[in-house]
Amino acid sequence: MTVFKDRMGRPLGAKEASKKIMNRFYNYWLDFELMLLRCVGHIPFHTLRKLFYRLAGIKLGRRATIHMWASFFQPRNIEIGEGTRVGDHAFLDGRAKLTIGKEVDIASYVMIYNSEHNLKSDDFSAIEEPVEIGDYSFIGPRVIILPGVRIGTGAVVAAGAVVTKDVEDYAIVGGVPAVKIGERTSKNLHYKLGRARLFQ
Ligand SMILES: CC(C)(COP(=O)(O)OP(=O)(O)OC[C@H]1O[C@@H](n2cnc3c(N)ncnc32)[C@H](O)[C@@H]1OP(=O)(O)O)[C@@H](O)C(=O)NCCC(=O)NCCS
Repeated sequence: MTVFKDRMGRPLGAKEASKKIMNRFYNYWLDFELMLLRCVGHIPFHTLRKLFYRLAGIKLGRRATIHMWASFFQPRNIEIGEGTRVGDHAFLDGRAKLTIGKEVDIASYVMIYNSEHNLKSDDFSAIEEPVEIGDYSFIGPRVIILPGVRIGTGAVVAAGAVVTKDVEDYAIVGGVPAVKIGERTSKNLHYKLGRARLFQ
């Protein structure tokens, strides 16, 4: 007699079932933690938010900050380099590794995804892929970056773009899907971004 079944009604062995049960409890905990992080996003002080984000496992470099109202799926896989500014209302996924370099300027309402459904599979299974954003890049407001994408060093993504493919170093891309619309002239970038806005 089969005691355990998955949500599709497939029979599960005891070992497989206990793994799924543990995973379910871990996910309940993660859901609770993500709710707390949403509350943290409402605190109008960078230092306090950063403290909680670091406690949740986000690796935040020196002077890096995330503005208010950010949300996440898995904070432990998120790494943000020195001096980087993440704008308000960002969505940083983290179900696979998300690596953001140093002095990266990310505007408001940017969404970065690490996971998507496999539309070719018969069970709508998830595919998780890392995303990497290079040093000195600029990501404009309301940009959406899809799983598996690498944004090169110094690259610029224009406002409102949907990035579906890798972006070369120093390229300027825009549109849906994003295509090259220009190139940054300086290839010797070495600035530090200005301070983050207070109480935001
Ligand atoms: C990326 C950006 C900086 C490009 O500026 P630029 O290099 O001066 O580009 P241009 O204005 O010369 O435009 C070059 C081409 O790209 C197109 N383009 C510019 N911005 C675009 C966008 N967001 N989406 C799609 N195409 C865009 C232009 O229409 C133009 O096309 P054309 O050659 O066919 O006429 C600018 O478009 C942008 O997105 N700025 C964001 C502003 C912002 O975020 N402000 C708040 C910061 S916190």
